[in-house]
Amino acid sequence: MYSLPGKKSKEIWDKDTRYVISGRSNIADSLPLVFESGQGVYIYDVDGNEFLDFSAGILTASTGHSHPHLIKRVKDQLDKLSHVYAFPTPDRYKLTQMLAEKMPAGIDTFAFYLEGAITVEAALRAASSYNKRYLYAATTYAYHGRTLLTRSLGTHLLPKEFGPTLNVTHLHYPSCYRCPFKLKHPECGLACVESAHDLLKSGGNEKPGALIFEPVIGAGGIIVPPADAMRRMVEIAREWDMVIIADEVLTGVGRTGKFLAIEHYGIEPDLTTFGKGLGSGIPVMCVAGKKEIMSSSPFGESGGGGSSTSFGGNPVSNAAALATLEILEKEKLVENAATLGTEIKERTAGWTEKYRIVGDVRGLGLLWGIELIKDKKHKEPYNQAWDVIYKKCMSNGVRLVPNRICPPLNITSGQLHHGLDIIEDAIKEVEEQT
Ligand SMILES: Cc1ncc(COP(=O)(O)O)c(C=O)c1O
Repeated sequence: MYSLPGKKSKEIWDKDTRYVISGRSNIADSLPLVFESGQGVYIYDVDGNEFLDFSAGILTASTGHSHPHLIKRVKDQLDKLSHVYAFPTPDRYKLTQMLAEKMPAGIDTFAFYLEGAITVEAALRAASSYNKRYLYAATTYAYHGRTLLTRSLGTHLLPKEFGPTLNVTHLHYPSCYRCPFKLKHPECGLACVESAHDLLKSGGNEKPGALIFEPVIGAGGIIVPPADAMRRMVEIAREWDMVIIADEVLTGVGRTGKFLAIEHYGIEPDLTTFGKGLGSGIPVMCVAGKKEIMSSSPFGESGGGGSSTSFGGNPVSNAAALATLEILEKEKLVENAATLGTEIKERTAGWTEKYRIVGDVRGLGLLWGIELIKDKKHKEPYNQAWDVIYKKCMSNGVRLVPNRICPPLNITSGQLHHGLDIIEDAIKEVEEQT
């Protein structure tokens, strides 16, 4: 068991915070560690402590840390050319060709960015360029980023004090554990999703031109919706003639055991955004969509710059994305995520009966959430318990984001169960003490 933070971490942390604001993230602020290196599914702090990375960076290190194939591709690219702005490079074609093969029907056109929020904004610009409608619909529990528009779409992690937001219609996300109508699926008749008609009508004459949603809620608490509810939500959006945008920034690139999470439901969006795991830690994100939408004016107009940013699509990021796709294929990591997802499901199946504070365990592939509650009747979230569990897990060498299990996709079954042992022990200990 480590005593954290170690001496070196503390020294560097104290110097660093002299110049850098806090407000990074509660996990960094609650345990001041300084990380120095990573290898495979492990990361190391400056005091030499080894941690099994159960959060893959922040779902970014999809092929683990310092994968030799990724390093080679990125180094080779750096030796040749690191930046060129809007021109293609030889490897970009390989990347887009590989991506096109993985996309749902009709999606074969791409634009590249570095950050999720900017990517989501780009998708909405494409949608509005196409249908000239400037209002949007999103869902409850959503998180799409922290820019003004993406904050307006979201309902989670966004303090009101950031200021006024834009007008967005929020539809009910199918969240069965906390059903807004207190019904049970499937007898509910998908009441939450059907309520979309009333919510959309209440918005006045100007109708939202696009619906954006997460196929599995991520930052809002890992919520896996029923497939029929997702299909109905998309059907309703089509009835309202909206562009359908699946935001897979967090769920895409194999995380849920399919390349895109929408494949679990058999739905076909018009646009999708993805990328946390696309560069295995090197920033690269993507909007993928139907050609007629992506190339509509002004977003995709030739010579107009409507989709351009300084660094989006740079050759080094593209090299990292290409390497990631090659590693996923060669090492069968999407399949690994699916197999291990089944193991997590089996392993955690009895936890809600076994532990008083475990309200629900939900997930797909290597994306799982554990919802802790104060009591089973009122289901009041028990976030303080996570603070304690987080520190216990870290002291036992498992790095996590509280309430989530999302290790690199190349974790082995043995490593996964070792991490789960430590999380389960910590839950048990906290439960015994409360
Ligand atoms: C679904 C989704 N969309 C968008 C974003 C925003 O990404 P970024 O933090 O890179 O701006 C996130 C970040 O967690 C996300 O989970």
